[in-house]
Amino acid sequence: MTATVAAEDGAILSVRDVYKVYGGVRALNGLSLEVARGEVHCVVGPNGAGKSTFFKTLIGVETPTSGKVFYRGRDVTRMPAFRRARLGLSVKFQNISAFGELTALQNLFVPLRRNHRKADIPDRAAAVLARVGLAGLEHQEVRRLSHGQQQWLSIGLSIAAEPDLLLLDEPAAGLSAEETTKTASLIRELNRQGMTIIVIEHDMGFIRSLKARTSVLHYGRLFAQGEFDEIAANEDVRRIYLGTA
Ligand SMILES: Nc1ncnc2c1ncn2[C@@H]1O[C@H](COP(=O)(O)OP(=O)(O)O)[C@@H](O)[C@H]1O
Ligand SMILES: [Mg+2]
Repeated sequence: MTATVAAEDGAILSVRDVYKVYGGVRALNGLSLEVARGEVHCVVGPNGAGKSTFFKTLIGVETPTSGKVFYRGRDVTRMPAFRRARLGLSVKFQNISAFGELTALQNLFVPLRRNHRKADIPDRAAAVLARVGLAGLEHQEVRRLSHGQQQWLSIGLSIAAEPDLLLLDEPAAGLSAEETTKTASLIRELNRQGMTIIVIEHDMGFIRSLKARTSVLHYGRLFAQGEFDEIAANEDVRRIYLGTA
């Protein structure tokens, strides 16, 4: 049996012994991690642990120095980012990706153009906005939306093409408590509808509310993994957050 077939076993994503070296820095230092189809999976870790580099190697904006990345049973380690996107891999980085001068609805036209007929696009766009809690704000210029609303629109842009695997880098950054709660509900709802979601986050309260399997990265490796409550109670994890390990 080939490695490609072996990788399918219930895991939508399988990262195997990945290294990413920048000059003398090992941003990823032998990272191995699997994400099962259908789960919400949180990735936490102190600053510099390699979380963003991990996402970059998944979507293909960075190529690992060594090691392999399998997505839906395929070796995608060296596949260009646009081809991974066509296979259903989507990311929302921390920055807002929408055009401020356009309306919320107009922003969705670009990602919808690929898979929908022109006449269907406005209705599809409105449906995506409703999914991310922005019904009624279709014709609002994006720059007039709140920070939270702009973040949800960015999530809408990332899900417009119906990805199988959605990566969210710090989706609660800069949000109010109420917006954070809404974002957690949105993530759970998208997951309930069938999307596998990986969330990088600093805000522990937010991660706790997702009640998801959690991986802790430290110095570019998997340091611990388990349900959030186990992770939060783990003394070694507490020590790395306090900077003493
Ligand atoms: N393009 C780069 N060039 C040099 N060093 C980098 C680069 N990207 C990340 N690093 C380094 O790799 C390590 C991991 O970074 P990063 O993945 O951004 O961590 P995190 O997202 O967990 O804070 C850090 O020490 C960072 O300084
Ligand atoms: Mg980061």
